[in-house]
Amino acid sequence: MGFFDIENLQSNRIINLPPYVFTVINRLKNEARMRGVDIIDMGMGSPDLPVPEQIRKELTRAINERHVNRYPEGGGSIELKRAVAYWYGKRFNVDLDPNDEVLILVGSKEGIANLSSAFLNRDDYALVPSPTYPIFFNSVDIFGGALYNVPMLEENDFMPDFERIDPAVLRRSKLMFISYPHNPTTVTVERDHFKGIVRFAKEHRIIVSHDAAYSELCFDGYKAPSFLEAEDARDVGIEFHSFSKTFSMAGWRIAFVVGNADILRVLRKMKSYVDFGVFTAIQKAAIVALELHEDIVQETIDAYRRRRDVLCDGLAALGWPHKKPKATMYVWTKIPDAFKHMDSKEFASLIVHETGVAVAPGEGFGDAGKGYIRFALVEPEERISEAIERLKKL
Ligand SMILES: Cc1ncc(COP(=O)(O)O)c(C=O)c1O
Repeated sequence: MGFFDIENLQSNRIINLPPYVFTVINRLKNEARMRGVDIIDMGMGSPDLPVPEQIRKELTRAINERHVNRYPEGGGSIELKRAVAYWYGKRFNVDLDPNDEVLILVGSKEGIANLSSAFLNRDDYALVPSPTYPIFFNSVDIFGGALYNVPMLEENDFMPDFERIDPAVLRRSKLMFISYPHNPTTVTVERDHFKGIVRFAKEHRIIVSHDAAYSELCFDGYKAPSFLEAEDARDVGIEFHSFSKTFSMAGWRIAFVVGNADILRVLRKMKSYVDFGVFTAIQKAAIVALELHEDIVQETIDAYRRRRDVLCDGLAALGWPHKKPKATMYVWTKIPDAFKHMDSKEFASLIVHETGVAVAPGEGFGDAGKGYIRFALVEPEERISEAIERLKKL
């Protein structure tokens, strides 16, 4: 033991957090690497594609500007917020006021965490579909709110049923987290779906947080709608977008949130106490990303679509049940029957140990993810083919 008895010094907040999704898999991955195994890593949704050249060029240009080293403007530069509003108008036909209805974030994970921090008191419920991207439920736990999981079950096409929630819970609910196209199930919705969400949120006076991180990674003619396209959506909610997936800028840490000005004011206040915003040169590069969006994003979409096809065709040939996604950079599959006796952590551990293929265990995304695993399409096509060959042997 070191000088401190660190286990007992930690806050309950930390102690009560479940182990991070990838802890077990990362350990097994590292062990396999030490044994000389070539790991095909389809675990984390961390884009391997290059950031488009024009964006990188703007970053290197901007980094030499005289004042970019200073603390950035809280909540984002007005130039970037205008670029967001312009892009949003073009993409979704929704008008936004760049001053009050746009906020720049240090990644949407940061924004979502600060949203829970800014709104949840002890005993305030947050409604969180399960399975889901973990920051939704983790942020509720960290900031002391009450978590209410709404299962997304395969027999209901993975759609959460908010109407079935106990009225006593709804009376104490403050926030609901939704996200389409959905990570990890890859479920998508049409525009009309959000009308029902707005009606529900108004009736129960619940803030809607819609995370649209994958709205631009759509295939086969599908185009993801914005929550704010629904009538009156702006009265009840906000929507998160990220540069991480659309422009493969995950490590640059930049995203934005748009919508209800009152909610954003509170979020901005919270943020002003804990961060200084995004490096100015990165904000400048993000403007170029939005300006060139239509010209540069297709290549990224095509790359993920081709990878999806290689993986899904391979899984189909193995008789492995899965749903071919219309969007996102994931494939969500049930554990094959022959391995049904295992939970998803055991199965993901077995795969990485026996084949060197790393995937994400479904239960890392919440209890309803048990029995599933998620492949992230972050390896080139030939490596995905190789992964299928290895899985065949298993
Ligand atoms: C649904 C969802 N939201 C947010 C994020 C994180 O985005 P960012 O890099 O902007 O924090 C992810 C990353 O995988 C995600 O799946």
